[in-house]
Amino acid sequence: MSQRSCLSVILAAGEGTRMKSALPKVLHQIAGLPMVAHVVKAAEAAGAGSQALVIGHGADEMRKATAKFAPKAETFVQEKRLGTAHAVLAARDAISKGYDDILVMFGDTPLIEAEALANARQKLAEGAAVVVIGFRPPNPTGYGRLIETGGKLNAIREEKDCSAEEKKIGFCNAGMMAVAGKHALDLLDRVGNKNAKDEYYLTDIVEIAGAKGLDVVATEASFESALGINNRAELAQAEGIWQQRRRHEVMLSGVTLIAPESVYFSYDTEIGADTIVEPNVWFGPGVKIAGGAKIHAFSHIEGATIASNCDVGPFARLRPGADLRNKAKVGNFCEVKQAVIEEGAKVNHLTYIGDARVGAGANIGAGTITCNYDGYSKFFTDIGEGAFIGSNSSLVAPVTIGKGGYIASGSVITQSVPDDALAFGRARQKTIPGKGKELRERFASAAAKKKAAADH
Ligand code: UD1
Ligand code: CA
Repeated sequence: MSQRSCLSVILAAGEGTRMKSALPKVLHQIAGLPMVAHVVKAAEAAGAGSQALVIGHGADEMRKATAKFAPKAETFVQEKRLGTAHAVLAARDAISKGYDDILVMFGDTPLIEAEALANARQKLAEGAAVVVIGFRPPNPTGYGRLIETGGKLNAIREEKDCSAEEKKIGFCNAGMMAVAGKHALDLLDRVGNKNAKDEYYLTDIVEIAGAKGLDVVATEASFESALGINNRAELAQAEGIWQQRRRHEVMLSGVTLIAPESVYFSYDTEIGADTIVEPNVWFGPGVKIAGGAKIHAFSHIEGATIASNCDVGPFARLRPGADLRNKAKVGNFCEVKQAVIEEGAKVNHLTYIGDARVGAGANIGAGTITCNYDGYSKFFTDIGEGAFIGSNSSLVAPVTIGKGGYIASGSVITQSVPDDALAFGRARQKTIPGKGKELRERFASAAAKKKAAADH
């Protein structure tokens, strides 16, 4: 099958009014990726080397998102929404390039599994001209029913046209199809719009192909594969199913999730074996974890790279550009942004490290802040290997702390510190013997006088 060329035509011209959103429906995200991009990924995984995206509503935004998330896809505008067959024909120029297989998919059906598409392509390879992807929903009401005899598909009957007997059929049209490229344009051009809605229905090609003596069959996909998203409740349902699938894969690949239902992944999260993830952890886009790491509870991580055997959290926030090298440690209530934490360095408590390098083995005390921003520009803080930053210090960037540098607690450091130097950036302590007792007596007698005056 791999030698057969394949184009996927993804229909996404719908308005999606039920989303009640300024954003086109198919750009709403699942696991940090627009749903239409999930569809493109599934098509690619099923061997579709070319992608045609049919857009209408929100064309500018759609083109921008396509360039970002599916740069290889070509966009075609369907000016008027005249039905699914009409929408496929908006991509006529792509189809006419001559592909062995055409996959027709919907942009709002993001959980489609590559396996279901590959199965449909397999039937084309075996000689079918049209392959309809079917599924068995818990409640078939509202879906087109698949009318089969002897393993061949005769028709797709929409609910309103079904006889009482046909309504009992549980096998329904998921909406997606695989069509032999050599027949595709001929079949699509024969579709008419003589129906209640004056629409050109893609489903009509089943009967058209049958009448021409071509082979038409149905394959079966999972219920999730066919889940179409029309509103935000369904969006959340799809998100939940996606997360469940991913958690399962992640666990089977050797990662421990103590409470899997409370851990959220992004579409591109990479997480190596023997990592342990505690409950309530969120991974935004762009996270790579090498393995053997411990991600403690309530950590929020995005755009971060975590090398082997790191320890993160609880309650850590790793923002884009956080780059933890082997055995680095970022503890509770710490935020790290655009900073390298080199091997074995420790940033343990209540600290902000932004636009910085923390050298190997350095120890950053509680409450340390890199002051990286003056309201206009960002500046860099370089902390050398083995440095020790005393608690509650502010490092005002740009500033360099040399290798083995030692910063006294509570310092405000505005000038660079050479290797192995000790720096204080705070007022000296003054101690006056007996003065504490004297103060206490003075304050007590003042309070007593006030009370006596009030009682009078
Ligand atoms: C379709 C099927 C139905 C199936 C159901 C499964 C047809 C005629 N019917 O119905 O048998 O059970 O899906 O969910 O195919 N679109 C365009 N341009 C158009 C029309 C539609 O781009 O002119 C896009 C929509 O944005 C959407 C997809 O095609 O992504 C499906 O269209 P929709 O109107 O939702 O079809 P259904 O009525 O759900
Ligand atoms: Ca639909």
